[in-house]
Amino acid sequence: MEKKILDVTCGARSIWFNKHHPAAVYCDKRREQYHHLWENACNCTLDINPDVVCDFTDLPFADNSFPLVVFDPPHLTGAKETAWLVKKYGKLNENWPQMLHDGFRECMRVLKPDGVLIFKWSEYDIPAAEVWKAIGQKPLFGHHSGKQSRTFWGCFMKLDNGEAMKDGKDDIDSIPTLTPPNEWVESLEAINNAAVAYIEGGPYENDLPGMELALKIDRLSRDFARPPEGEEDA
Ligand SMILES: C[S@@+](CC[C@H](N)C(=O)[O-])C[C@H]1O[C@@H](n2cnc3c(N)ncnc32)[C@H](O)[C@@H]1O
Repeated sequence: MEKKILDVTCGARSIWFNKHHPAAVYCDKRREQYHHLWENACNCTLDINPDVVCDFTDLPFADNSFPLVVFDPPHLTGAKETAWLVKKYGKLNENWPQMLHDGFRECMRVLKPDGVLIFKWSEYDIPAAEVWKAIGQKPLFGHHSGKQSRTFWGCFMKLDNGEAMKDGKDDIDSIPTLTPPNEWVESLEAINNAAVAYIEGGPYENDLPGMELALKIDRLSRDFARPPEGEEDA
């Protein structure tokens, strides 16, 4: 089958329903396998096995090659190198704005004219608005998803002039993000940080109840910080 889809940051392909889609080329900068990463929770294996090992800032594909490109770059800045989240998703360094800028430019270069770029971002450490500033463009449209609404899916298109949407005066910050009620933020953040520090500290071979409790606190504190039903998109 003709390769029409390029995933430049495939990782473990967790976003894919068919992890070996015949129309897709899966890329990542690393080939790694971890066993028993979540030893207390299950015997999962994390398998990062791209078709092509490459850097998304310098893709080994010709201009105008794919009608659909998927870009799901690392989004963590604070997590420890040993954390399973970092093993699964990678980590950004201080040069992240330039790296995302160059990666986005490469994605647009290999897109065919009128091609679509699906960009996924998790606002775990960095708000999506800062990413749009770094890459110099914002999506045509997008949507927050996930239990804590921290994941943002955005859609770009390679329009005739080669630019997705660059008019310079659109209000990037108007893309809705969630703002928890002020009086809850400090205490919830403290609880959440403690839980996240525990979760990222690992390993948990002998402490499954502790791990489960920390995950539960993390989930609950984020849920409580959500605005009331119906006000999310205000
Ligand atoms: C958020 S994860 C992607 C998760 C993936 N979409 C999934 O469904 O599991 C980001 C991935 O980008 C990869 N990555 C980081 N920097 C890269 C680079 N410069 N070039 C290519 N891949 C890179 C990481 O190795 C990591 O697997």
